[in-house]
Amino acid sequence: MDHVRVHPKFLHSNATSHKWALGAIAELLDNAIDEVHNGATFVKVDRIINPRDKSPALLVQDNGGGMDPDCMRQCMSLGYSQKNTNTMIGQYGNGFKTSTMRLGADVIVFSRCSRNGSVTQSIGLLSYTFLRETGHEDTVVPMLDYELPLNAKHPRRLLRTTEDAWSSNLSTILQWSPYASEAELLQQFEDVSLHGTKIVVYNLWLNDDGILELDFDSDETDIQLRGSNKQEKPDKLQSQLTQQHISNRLRYSLRAYASMLYLQMPPNFRMVLRGSPIEHHSIAEDLKFPEYIVYKPQIGGSVKDFGFKEVSVITTIGFTKEAPMVNVHGFNVYHKNRLIMPFWKVLQENSSRGRGVVGVIGGKF
Ligand SMILES: Nc1ncnc2c1ncn2[C@@H]1O[C@H](COP(=O)(O)OP(=O)(O)OP(=O)(O)O)[C@@H](O)[C@H]1O
Ligand SMILES: [Mg+2]
Repeated sequence: MDHVRVHPKFLHSNATSHKWALGAIAELLDNAIDEVHNGATFVKVDRIINPRDKSPALLVQDNGGGMDPDCMRQCMSLGYSQKNTNTMIGQYGNGFKTSTMRLGADVIVFSRCSRNGSVTQSIGLLSYTFLRETGHEDTVVPMLDYELPLNAKHPRRLLRTTEDAWSSNLSTILQWSPYASEAELLQQFEDVSLHGTKIVVYNLWLNDDGILELDFDSDETDIQLRGSNKQEKPDKLQSQLTQQHISNRLRYSLRAYASMLYLQMPPNFRMVLRGSPIEHHSIAEDLKFPEYIVYKPQIGGSVKDFGFKEVSVITTIGFTKEAPMVNVHGFNVYHKNRLIMPFWKVLQENSSRGRGVVGVIGGKF
């Protein structure tokens, strides 16, 4: 065998690198944002119903460039990334696997790609349930490819190896995915435009109490983390305001977190959560008495020796608009336009120093 083997257990343990389920959803948003240069204008996140067992499943769909059969195989492999530009968020070739496996046991991907005059459709299944229940010691990912010749009414099977391998992949996918026939699988492309990708994570994980960790019911326009939103109503207005502050809501509400996930939204790009667009929230623009400081990290030794480029980063610091009523402080650290540390506390939790002081680090000068 000339390939590195990955045991299905590794998929599982690797996924625990995301402690926080909303952070895992954000990885899928990153992949869609990275597709803006391939024409993506939206990413939508929704709850759908698994037709096989009527359980909720998570849908993430974009109209980016999509993946051709080779790219789809890379997407489902570990540690393989073609992204190497500074403007893209992805770099490790791991985000898709860790995030989907963190959210659920199984994921199916549908992607349509139009490249060099040919249109292809690929379907891939990364199913922990299938691998575990069939005792696989290798991570096998069944895939199906189709081509859509110009003016053809129906997609044609695109064989990479043998007819038998194709049929065996099809039967595995039909057995372990939410879709029971090839026609049903192909139907999933009906709402994919000329190119784009649709990801369905199903058999979503349950929490320790045996209920879905993602809460689709408390707010029909949001996806929340169960148990993180303490519904108690504090009597003091100050505590109420603190509780409703975005620094608290982003811990359990995808709508709140996604609203500040990117420092700047690409123009003409929308994120739509359960049918309603996510409004972009700029923490820096919201500050009272803002000050701007150009921060130049000093790298020890000669910068050139390390091959680092010296960078300048704009830091905005001010008071959150609700100050002094709220007990909130911290820095929001952005890297490559993406929030990596929300409200990072730089002072002791119960100190009153710095109360209401909020900063934003990010953006090159
Ligand atoms: N929505 C998508 N549309 C098109 N291609 C995608 C999409 N999601 C993933 N891919 C392809 O699959 C590859 C692997 O994705 P993955 O998120 O695992 O890694 P990455 O984005 O390259 O790096 P990182 O691990 O830092 O996220 C990507 O490099 C990209 O080529
Ligand atoms: Mg990624």
